[in-house]
Amino acid sequence: MKPMPVTTSIADIPTISVDFLDPRFAADPYPALEEIRAVGPIVRNERSGYLMLTSYADCAQVMGRAQSFAADVEHLTALFGGTTFASLSGARHRQLKGIWAPAFQRKSLAATYPELIRQVIVDRAADSIARLRAGETVDIAEGFVRAIPAVVIASMLGVPSADIPDFVRWSDEMGHILENRDDPSTHGRALVAQGKQATDNLNRYMAAVIDERRDRPGGDLVSQIAVSEVPMTEAEVVAATTQLVFAGNETTAKLMGHCLVTLAAHPGQREVLRQNRDLLPQAIEEVHRWSSVKVATLRFVREEQVQVAGHELAEDTTIMALPAAGNRDPQRWERADAFDINRPRLAHLGFGVGPHACLGLNLARLEVEILLNHLPRPEPGPARGRDPAEPPSGRDPGLAGAAGRLRRQLDGARPRGDRCRAGKRQGRTAMKINVDTGKCIGSGACVVACEEVFGLDDDGVVVVLQSNPPAELRERVHEAAEACPAEVIETTD
Ligand code: HEM
Repeated sequence: MKPMPVTTSIADIPTISVDFLDPRFAADPYPALEEIRAVGPIVRNERSGYLMLTSYADCAQVMGRAQSFAADVEHLTALFGGTTFASLSGARHRQLKGIWAPAFQRKSLAATYPELIRQVIVDRAADSIARLRAGETVDIAEGFVRAIPAVVIASMLGVPSADIPDFVRWSDEMGHILENRDDPSTHGRALVAQGKQATDNLNRYMAAVIDERRDRPGGDLVSQIAVSEVPMTEAEVVAATTQLVFAGNETTAKLMGHCLVTLAAHPGQREVLRQNRDLLPQAIEEVHRWSSVKVATLRFVREEQVQVAGHELAEDTTIMALPAAGNRDPQRWERADAFDINRPRLAHLGFGVGPHACLGLNLARLEVEILLNHLPRPEPGPARGRDPAEPPSGRDPGLAGAAGRLRRQLDGARPRGDRCRAGKRQGRTAMKINVDTGKCIGSGACVVACEEVFGLDDDGVVVVLQSNPPAELRERVHEAAEACPAEVIETTD
């Protein structure tokens, strides 16, 4: 590829006007994202002044390099009612994220929570499935999937079931702060105020639970942070817990909805999945790539000068990475606009990259997989009714009615087989870890799986901290290799 010329003047950057508050954007952001891409890899939004990025590589650069690009600290602090590790970088970020990292490893989750998650889904599904069987149309967004992740995380935090409805409501209302942050209307301001009140309520509630767990710790996530030896202020402990509640709530419900609607709308792909149920994890990743939950994220240049998409940007410049556009970058994916569960696996930006990559990605994947496994098996014979037309390809597509069709369109998937190659691991003594650092995309998934062995350097690239780890860490090293979305870690033992 020809190297891009470097310019120093922001005036050289082309402009466009995009209204991210337009309901049409919320319904389907992809036409607007493609308009931005057509203007160039870096484009200034006349409305906000933000510099928008559409390519995979540029989004990965600014989302993944925490030392050059700061998160939206002010906003995150307001959202969670205090400083959390999402606002921090470097050693302190790793220290705080590390408190819960072991609990969010795929293996820990698989050992502890599938039954809990399944039960939450069964309880929520009972009514919807009865109505579907009676031939009714059910709004699966509100009526089924919306509350599943909040109830799951409430249970993981050990919140008593009587308090769960309040807990779910507060967590939902906090979403108004994000959704309406740039809406100056009276209604928008009122929703933000309601969201902030919800943050206060959740903070107060969590503070009381944390106090109680200090006296009587259990095996839940609140106890883990309440008794952690990592030095933290009380406000940091409370905000971290509130963040955990919020971060995986609406996001996971949306991914569930996107999976249901996308699979419902692609009968050919559903058939591929029906014939090979092992493709389910890959199908979920492809839905996430094709229909991103996180459309945009802000970063601020924190160095004097930094080069992005061929331009020198000055300190404090506001950048809006558009991971939804990066996930359909035609330079990275062939037929990027097509939904194809058989396409070669390549990491996408849906869970972020680098040190701030999602802590809960394994939990989200597990919940979605269990949900898809739980759906009723299709009735034999041809599908009745017409297949829905291709839906709008963005977030929050019209979910109502999709579940009614899913009843006959989706196969109840078999649980994902244990992809660990345990047999190969028996009775060996030395272990070698090879990492292709050139291909590392800095998702941080390996660090989440095994922080004793893997770290990220200042460029967000994986480093191996122990080349021949002790026997007790080896399972987790294998887990890290399997968790790596770019598949750059190889192990031999
Ligand atoms: C499909 C569901 C989810 C999606 C799409 C998602 C997406 C993301 C993304 C894109 C980031 C990085 C944000 C950035 O760099 O600006 C992130 C961070 C984070 N997510 Fe998730 N997430 C999901 C589920 C969860 C769940 C279930 C949890 C926990 C219960 C969780 C907890 C977090 C936390 C704590 C961070 C901050 C990590 C850090 O700053 O180091 N997420 N998530």
